[in-house]
Amino acid sequence: MNIITTSDNHKTAVSTAIDVLGEGGLVAVPTETVYGLAADATNGIAVAGIFVAKRRPQFNPLICHVASLEMAELYGEFDTIARKLAVKFWPGPLTLVVPRKPDCGLHDLVSAGLDTIALRHPLGIVGEIAAQLGAPLAAPSANTSGRISPTTARHVVEDLGDKADLIIDGGACAIGLESTIVKVTDDIPVLLRTGGIPVEELERLLQCKLFRTEQKTPVEAPGMMTSHYAPKASLRMNAADAKNGEAFLAFGDTGKIQINLATVSLNLSPDGDLMEAAANLYSCLKQLDASGADMIAVQKIPKTGLGEAINDRLRRAAAPRERTS
Ligand code: TXA
Ligand code: MG
Repeated sequence: MNIITTSDNHKTAVSTAIDVLGEGGLVAVPTETVYGLAADATNGIAVAGIFVAKRRPQFNPLICHVASLEMAELYGEFDTIARKLAVKFWPGPLTLVVPRKPDCGLHDLVSAGLDTIALRHPLGIVGEIAAQLGAPLAAPSANTSGRISPTTARHVVEDLGDKADLIIDGGACAIGLESTIVKVTDDIPVLLRTGGIPVEELERLLQCKLFRTEQKTPVEAPGMMTSHYAPKASLRMNAADAKNGEAFLAFGDTGKIQINLATVSLNLSPDGDLMEAAANLYSCLKQLDASGADMIAVQKIPKTGLGEAINDRLRRAAAPRERTS
């Protein structure tokens, strides 16, 4: 498997990615949120390859990553609200689901046959690749479906291995949580997934509340499936102590918490900083899971700002699920 590190070889990383994508290959790419597994969004066979590599149910549509709002508008209809959000938060961890332009050239598989399209201009090398390729990069997170999203190139290697034709190593993802997804197809913007931009910031800009889909509505975003982001161990939320044999995931001050019975413990952010906690979340879950503990106890994490998305991911990781071996 070919791995190129951007700090040593930025130009080679871009040009090799374009070669591989041009041949219909899959490239694991770093973004500020998590690593993505990218294909040329106009190439149906390449896009189908993503579903195979991730063993992902076909009904899940993919995010298309672009180089600018101008490029996004070739594929989607942006109304005043969508444009306002893009202008303020792009490049950044915000995905906008907007009406898809007919005959825009993207393969139908990208949006799983829906008449909407999810678009995002991420920070970093992906926009550069999309600009030079002249097409958006369809990319879900670069993990096997249902597993924890990768925030380092090593995570991608361990999960997908040779299923990616090329891995671009851009270091650890700065945000570490997937993008916030907002659907803007009529007057009322709908929050489809909490993520890297706190909902309060979006609401402050728009001067209105986002509509929140109930958990029981049909799946519009797989981030909405109850069990998702699943480690092998079970999770116990809002833990006030660690029980014998548990792994412990702390947040902030552990002064009053009994963690001496834990086999292993990690702190998402000893200072109680939610940004730092978000960036560390998936790596910490992976490390604690690798310790072999059956249960990961998680200290209470505030639900404000990025804490909302962190709690959402932990709740899904804690949800009961069918076990595979
Ligand atoms: O931060 C991120 O968003 C990362 C990086 C790689 O960009 N990507 C990511 O992709 O998390 P993925 O495939 O794991 O999640 C994409 C989400 C899914 O929940 C999907 O259902 C939703 O976007 N989505 C895509 N197109 C949609 C559409 N037309 N309508 C509703 N939801 C859509
Ligand atoms: Mg994912």
